[in-house]
Amino acid sequence: MDIARTPETPGGNVEMADAAPQPKAPPMIRRDDYRPFGWLVPETKLDFELGLESTHVTATLTVARNAKADPAPVIRLNGDGLEPESVLVDGVPATNWTMDEGDLMLPLTGEAHEIRIATTIQPSTNSQLMGLYASNGMLCTQCEAEGFRRITFFPDRPDVLSTYTVRMSGPKAQFPVLLCNGNRIAVGEGGDSHWAEWHDPWPKPSYLFALVAGDLVARNDSFTTMSGRKVELNVYVREGDLDRTEHAMESLKRSMKWDEEVFGREYDLDLFNIVAVSDFNMGAMENKGLNVFNTKFVLADPETATDADYDGIEGVIGHEYFHNWSGNRITCRDWFQLSLKEGFTVLRDQLFSQDMGSAPVKRIEDVRILRMAQFPEDSGPLAHPIRPDSYREINNFYTATVYNKGAEVIRMMRTMAGEERFRAGTDLYFDRHDGEAATCEDFVEAIEDGAGLDLKQFRLWYSQAGTPKVSVSLEHEGNTATLRLGQVVPSTPGQLDKQPMPIPLKLALFDRASGKHGGEQLVVLDKAADTFTFDGFAEKPVLSINRTFSAPVTIERDVPREDLVFLAAKDDDPFARYEAMQELMTGHLVAAVSGSLGDNDRAAARADIARALGAVIADATLDDLMRGELLLMPGQTHIAEQMLVADPGRIHAEREALKAAVGAVLAEDLVAMHARASTLPFTMDAAGKGARKVKTIALTYLAGADPERASALAASQYDSADNMTDRQGALMVLAGLGTAERTARLIDFYNRYQGNALVIDKWFALQASSLHPQAIEHVKALADHPDFTLRNPNRVRSLYMAFAGNPSAFHAADGEGYRMVADLILALDPINPQTAARFVPSLGRWRRIEPGRAALMRSELERVAAAPHLSRDTFEQVTRSLD
Ligand code: ARG
Ligand code: ZN
Repeated sequence: MDIARTPETPGGNVEMADAAPQPKAPPMIRRDDYRPFGWLVPETKLDFELGLESTHVTATLTVARNAKADPAPVIRLNGDGLEPESVLVDGVPATNWTMDEGDLMLPLTGEAHEIRIATTIQPSTNSQLMGLYASNGMLCTQCEAEGFRRITFFPDRPDVLSTYTVRMSGPKAQFPVLLCNGNRIAVGEGGDSHWAEWHDPWPKPSYLFALVAGDLVARNDSFTTMSGRKVELNVYVREGDLDRTEHAMESLKRSMKWDEEVFGREYDLDLFNIVAVSDFNMGAMENKGLNVFNTKFVLADPETATDADYDGIEGVIGHEYFHNWSGNRITCRDWFQLSLKEGFTVLRDQLFSQDMGSAPVKRIEDVRILRMAQFPEDSGPLAHPIRPDSYREINNFYTATVYNKGAEVIRMMRTMAGEERFRAGTDLYFDRHDGEAATCEDFVEAIEDGAGLDLKQFRLWYSQAGTPKVSVSLEHEGNTATLRLGQVVPSTPGQLDKQPMPIPLKLALFDRASGKHGGEQLVVLDKAADTFTFDGFAEKPVLSINRTFSAPVTIERDVPREDLVFLAAKDDDPFARYEAMQELMTGHLVAAVSGSLGDNDRAAARADIARALGAVIADATLDDLMRGELLLMPGQTHIAEQMLVADPGRIHAEREALKAAVGAVLAEDLVAMHARASTLPFTMDAAGKGARKVKTIALTYLAGADPERASALAASQYDSADNMTDRQGALMVLAGLGTAERTARLIDFYNRYQGNALVIDKWFALQASSLHPQAIEHVKALADHPDFTLRNPNRVRSLYMAFAGNPSAFHAADGEGYRMVADLILALDPINPQTAARFVPSLGRWRRIEPGRAALMRSELERVAAAPHLSRDTFEQVTRSLD
C-alpha cells in the first residue's frame, strides 16, 4: 500500500479533474527507514505551571551529538499542535528555527548544547486523551505512543533515552496531590499554590513520562523485594472509591512477588504508584513508577464488579507491572518493535494469571480471545505481521496481532525450549539489553543463545502475517499409525507468497479401549507437508493434537464425531477437551449453515452434542470453572471465521436453534445444576466463581428452549443476587428475552447503580449486546440517553463496541447497523480519533460476508472515506479496509 487510493466512485469514474481535491494521504512510515537519532538527550528538565484550562511548560534539554549516528546539523524536535513561545540555545534566544509540519527544526553547530523551549497547552480541550488532559477535574497524561509531543517539543521516539527531573506547581486546593515518575525529591508551598519536584534516576523514552495532579486519595501498602528493599505502594483514586481498591493492591503485590520468583525480576525504585482515571483510551499505561489506569482495571468490590472484572484487574495490574522490565528497563528501538514489549508482556501476564487461578481455564480464555479478536484480524484487510513493516498511524497497531499473537509466538519458543531453558533465554535477554532500546531480533537472538534453540526459520513468525492452516490426517495399518500434516500460510495484504513456518504441535494418541495414551509428544512441522509414524497401535488410536493450543494455527481435519465425543469426555488435557467440544459444535453449525445437512443428520448431530454436554454436566471429576468452559457454545464470530463467506443471519439462526435443542433435552439437568450452584454462598475461590459461571450458562441454554421458565429463574437469580456476577449474568439473559421481567430488572439495575460509571457501562453494554430482536432500536434509544456521551471512551465502547460485536444486531440485513457504526465513526473522529478508528474493523470484514450485506458495509466505508478532514487514524484504517 504505497499511496492511498481515492475511493472508487459508483460509475467507476477515474477522472477526478472536477472532483473536490482529495486531502493528502498521511505519510507511510517504514521499518527499513530506521536511522539512529543524531542527538543524545542525557538530561531533561520539565517545569509545569498547572492549570486545567492552561498549563505552561518549560522544557530544558541537554543534548549532545550521537557518535553512532549520521551527523545532523539540525535537530528535529517533534511537536503536535504546539507553538514555541521561546526557544533558547545555551541561554541565548534562537531565531533560526523553522517548523516542519508540527515539528520544530533547530540548527545546532556545537557538540553539545542546552535547549530551552516554553509552550502553553490546554488540557481541558484535549478530547483525544493523548498528552496532558483533564479528567474529572484532575490532570493526567498519556504519552505512548506519540503523546509527549503534545506536551512539549522533544525527540519523541523510543530510542532517545533521557533522565527526567520535573517540577510542577499549581493551586493546592485543586491539585493537592502532585505525582510524577521516580521519587519525590522536594516539596514546597507559597500562598494558595504548592509545588513538588520529582526525579527519575532511570533513563527512559518520552512515552514513559507521566504526570498526575488532582484531588486524590490513596490506598497505601508496601512490598519488600527479594533483596530486602522496602517499596512504598499507592493506589490513587477519587475520594469515595477507596474501598474498591483492595483487589488492585493485592494484585500488585502478587505481581511483584511472581516476577521475582518466575522471571527473577526485582523492582527498582522505592515507590510504585498507580492512579485510576475514568477517561482513558486503553486499559492502562506502564509509565515508570507511575502507572496510569482506566478505572475499569482498578476498582472492584463484589457488589459492582464481576468475577471477570476481578480477573481483568489482576491481569492488567500484572501486565503493567511486568512492563517495568519488559518495556521500561528494556524498551523498543522503534514502534515497529512494539511486540518486543507487548507480546512478551502479554505472555508474562497470561502466565501470571495461570499461576494465580486455574491454569487450564485461563489458557482456554486466552485462546478464545485470540480466536475472537486476532484470527479475524489476521484473515482480513488489516492483517499485519506481529512486527509490522509500515504504518501511517502507530496507534492503529496496538492490535490483537501485536499483543496476543505476539504472546503466542513467544509462548511457542517457550514450548520448544521447555520452561528452564526458556528462563535461561530471558535471563540472557534482560542481562544483555538492560538499559537499551532493543529490537525483536535482539530478543530472538537472546533466546537462541540462552535457551540453545535454532530459531532461524522461526523468525518467519515475526515477518509473515496470516493464521497458518494445518491439515491433519491419521491413517492406520498393521501396528502403525501414520500422521500426515500439511501447512498453508494464507496470503495477506502485501504478502502473497508465504514460506512454511515451524509449527510446534503437542499431540497424544489415545487407545480407544482404555482411554489412555502413552505420553504426550511434541512434533514440529517445519515443511509444507510431513509425515510422522507411531508404532505399537493394534487399533487405530484417537488423535489429540495442538494440545494446550501449542501453536496459533487452525487445524483442518476430517474427524469422526465419535472421536470428538471421546476426546470431549476423556482427554487428560483440559484444553483439548474444550477443543473437542468446540469442534463438535462448530463442525455441526458450519455444516448446518452451509445447507449440507439433511433433517436426520441434523437431529443426529444435535443429539450427540446434547449427550456430550449432558455428560459434562454429570461429570463429577470436573470443577465448575472447567465445566463452564466445556458447556460454552462457540461464538458467532468463530463460526463465521470457519467459512469463506458467511451469512450472519443463518449463523445466528442455527446457533440459536442448537441452543434451544440442547436446552430442551437437558432442561432438567440444567435446572438441577442451577439449583445446586445456587446453594453455595458467595466466595471468591474457584468453587464460588465456578458456581456463578455455570448458573448463568444454565440460564442461557434454558432461555433458548423455554423463555418463560428461563425468565422466571433469571429474575429470581437477579433478585436474590448478592454479587455483580450473578446479577449481571441474570440481566444478560433477561435482556435477550421479551418478558415482563426484563423491563423491570433493567430499570432496577439502572436505579440501583446510577452514578457508578463502571456499572452504568455494563447497563449500556448488556442491552447493546443482547439477543433481543429489537436490540438495534435499543441502541438507538440509548445513544440519546442523558448518560451517553462521546467524550468518555468507556461509555462509547460500552454502547457501540458491544453493538458492533453483536452479530445478530449489527448485521441487520437492511444495513442499519452498519449505518449506525459509520455515523459513530464520523461523529467521534474529530473528538477522539484513536477510539473512532477502532470501530473501522467491524465494517472492514465485508469481503467475508455474503454479497448483499458486503455491499452495504462497503458503501458505509466509502461514506466514511469520503468525509473531509479525516484523522490519520481513521484514514489509514478505512483505506486499508477498502483496498
Ligand atoms: N503500553 C500500554 C499497555 O500495553 C498501552 C498503551 C497504548 N496507548 C495508546 N495510545 N496506543 O499496557
Ligand atoms: Zn502493554
